[in-house]
Amino acid sequence: MKIAVLPGDGIGTEIVAEAIKVLNALDLKFETEFALAGGVAYAAHGHPLPQTTLKLAKEADAVLFGAVGDWRYDQLDRPLRPEQAILGLRKHLGLFANLRPAICFEQLADASSLKPELISGLDILIIRDATGDVYFGQPRGRRTAVDGPFPGTEEGFDTMRYSRPEVERIAHVAFQSAQQRAKRVTSVDKANVLETSQFWRDIMTEVGKQYPDVELDHMYIDNAAMQLVKAPKKFDVIVTGNLFGDILSDEAAMLTGSIGMLPSASLSASHRGLYEPSHGSAPDIAGKGIANPLATILSAAMMLRFSLKQTTAANRIESAVRDVLASGLRTADIYSEGTRRVGTSEMGDAVVAAIARSARTD
Ligand code: IPM
Ligand code: MG
Repeated sequence: MKIAVLPGDGIGTEIVAEAIKVLNALDLKFETEFALAGGVAYAAHGHPLPQTTLKLAKEADAVLFGAVGDWRYDQLDRPLRPEQAILGLRKHLGLFANLRPAICFEQLADASSLKPELISGLDILIIRDATGDVYFGQPRGRRTAVDGPFPGTEEGFDTMRYSRPEVERIAHVAFQSAQQRAKRVTSVDKANVLETSQFWRDIMTEVGKQYPDVELDHMYIDNAAMQLVKAPKKFDVIVTGNLFGDILSDEAAMLTGSIGMLPSASLSASHRGLYEPSHGSAPDIAGKGIANPLATILSAAMMLRFSLKQTTAANRIESAVRDVLASGLRTADIYSEGTRRVGTSEMGDAVVAAIARSARTD
């Protein structure tokens, strides 16, 4: 098994190091190869996703990714900005299915800004298409407006679009995931306004007929954003497009107490996968050793489960994380009174120790 490791920018290096530490604590045979992506890759090679990095990612069995984004490069032309690394990997590896679970660990129910009873036991899965929509739609750019309220003036524009196969394949991922869970899918769109969304909704309904055991409902994005904070536990699987999914997944992450807890998987049709925390590169706390590595550690567990077919090892990581939380250790983002504040590497060490303890009692 070969894992391409792309730590990226900001806290990426620190959190990925902890995930590797945890992987090394398991009895697995794997090789890792590191490469640059994001702002650090731009600084070294003049491109956020160098050919060598892309090649490595394509050849590996799985990609473990940290985070990209660095304000120092925000002024660059868009194709050179750090974010293009992750967008390029999603596109070139065909990673259309972005799975973002939002699970509230019992011990963290009071770290959420919502009342504990609203979120304790929360377990929802956001499935976001990650290779289509207005993120990649052409044409896009700047031009002189020919119509609209101010013809003859400068305008910026993007294209929202989805093709039938793109909607069908993400629909199947959603329905099949729901079959393993509570068997409910909520498809989120803006069909009251957008043509693309009405098309999306029609196809979701059509594909849903092949899954009579799964209940499908549709919700507008604005209502979904509201329902997520009002009664998040009513959801099981949420399936949505790239732009709406970007927004809803940050919102859902925060429900669980901290975006620092949430892993994600991006899968292709052939189950090739990239695994990354749902959060960003947090340049403000980079290098301070205080970032929460648990989202990345849990992403490594998803990698073992989905791409490397090591279910037992994945379970061991997840239960070690639960043990560590139960023992009261917290990074700053999930700290509350009565718990013990630890740094990034102490948290990683604690997960390793919990794995070692479980090995002894097995
Ligand atoms: C995410 C991020 C990315 C996105 C950025 C870094 C391009 O916000 O993974 O959610 O918008 O998809
Ligand atoms: Mg995002």
